[in-house]
Amino acid sequence: MKWRTYPPDVLPLWVAEMDVPLAEPVLRALTDALALGDTGYPAGTAYAEALAEFAEKRWGWDGCAVERTAIVPDVMMGIVEMLRLVTGNGDPVVVNPPVYPPFFQFIEHLDRRVVEASLGPDLRIDFDTLEEAFRQAVAGGGRAAYLLCSPQNPTGTVHTAAELAAVAALADRYGVRVVVDEIHAPLTASGVDFVPYLSVPGAESGLSLMSASKGWNLAGLKAALAVAGTAAAADLARLPEEVSHGPSHLGIIAHTAALRDGTAWLDALRAGLDENRRLLTDLLAAHLPSVNCRPGEATYLAWLDCRGLGLGDDPADVFLERGRVALSAGSRFGTGGRGHVRLNLATSPEVVEEGVRRMAAALG
Ligand SMILES: Cc1ncc(COP(=O)(O)O)c(C=O)c1O
Repeated sequence: MKWRTYPPDVLPLWVAEMDVPLAEPVLRALTDALALGDTGYPAGTAYAEALAEFAEKRWGWDGCAVERTAIVPDVMMGIVEMLRLVTGNGDPVVVNPPVYPPFFQFIEHLDRRVVEASLGPDLRIDFDTLEEAFRQAVAGGGRAAYLLCSPQNPTGTVHTAAELAAVAALADRYGVRVVVDEIHAPLTASGVDFVPYLSVPGAESGLSLMSASKGWNLAGLKAALAVAGTAAAADLARLPEEVSHGPSHLGIIAHTAALRDGTAWLDALRAGLDENRRLLTDLLAAHLPSVNCRPGEATYLAWLDCRGLGLGDDPADVFLERGRVALSAGSRFGTGGRGHVRLNLATSPEVVEEGVRRMAAALG
C-alpha cells in the first residue's frame, strides 16, 4: 500500500509499513511451509507460546498464559471482537486522540460511540480528562470500554507502569473495561522499557491485542493474538468460533517465527530506527526549524507539529502537492491532530533525507 497508492513521483512516508528485507527466520519458516505444501488450516498454540516466551524474555512478564489467548485475524479485527465481548450496541468507547484513525472508524462501524479523552500537552494520558470521559461514558448506564493505544500511535508515547496502574485503578472505579492495543510494543527506542498493560496491578479484567505485524513488517500475513487478564478469561472464552477462521495459517507461521527466532533482526532494526530518529531531528532542526518534533519513545512514526508553518489544518496536503512527499494528515487522528503530520521513518536514511528535502522544498 505504501508504494502503490501514489504516483511514482511521490515519495511515500505515510502508512505504517517498513522498507526492510524480511527477517531471515520468517522467510525460512514461510518457504519451508510452502515447499512442504503446508497451506491448509492452522492448528495449535505455537503463536501464543512464542509470544509468551518473547514477553518473558523481553519485558520480564510471565503472565501471558497460553490458555488465556485467542488467535484473531489482525489487531483491528481483534479490537472489534473484544469490544463486542464487553460492550453492547450504542455503548461508549473512550479513546485518547490524537490516535490511530481506524480506532474511530472501527468503533463507529461496530455501532459503538466514541468518547474522546485527549492526551495532555505533553502527549501523555491526562488523568483528569480521562476521568471526566469515564464519568460521561458510564453516565448513560451502558457498558463502557476504554481503547488504549500502548505504545501510542502517532505520538510514540510509552505509558509507564505507574500510568498503566492508574488507568487500571480508574477503570475499576468507574466499571470501564480496558482493551489495549499493544501492536507497537516490540518497537521501543533503546533505553525505553515497554510495560504490558496486563502486567500491572489491578489490570486483571483487561484484554490486550498483540501481534508481530508492526515489529517485523508482517501486515500482509494476517494474524494477531488476543490475551485476557485473569479476570477476563471468561469473556475471552465467549469469543465465537468463527473468529478463528479469519487468521491466515501462513500468517501464524510467520508471526510465530518472528517472535521465536527474530529477536536479533528486531534489535538491528531498532538500532536503525534510533539512528533515523536522530537523523530526522537533526534534519528538521537544520531545514524546518519551526516544525516541532518530539523524539518518540517507540514506533517508527514521528508526530510533527507543523502549526508554526502556517499551512492550515492539513499541512500534509501542501507537502504532497508542492513537495511530492506523502505524509499522514494529522486531522485524521482526532482532536489535537490539526496542523500536524505523521512521518514514517522506517526506511533508509537516504529516503528520510529526501523526505525532509521535499518538505522544505514545498515551502520554497
Ligand atoms: C495502533 C495500531 N493498531 C492496529 C494497527 C493495524 O494492525 P492490524 O493490521 O493487525 O489490524 C496499526 C497499524 O498501523 C496500528 O498502528
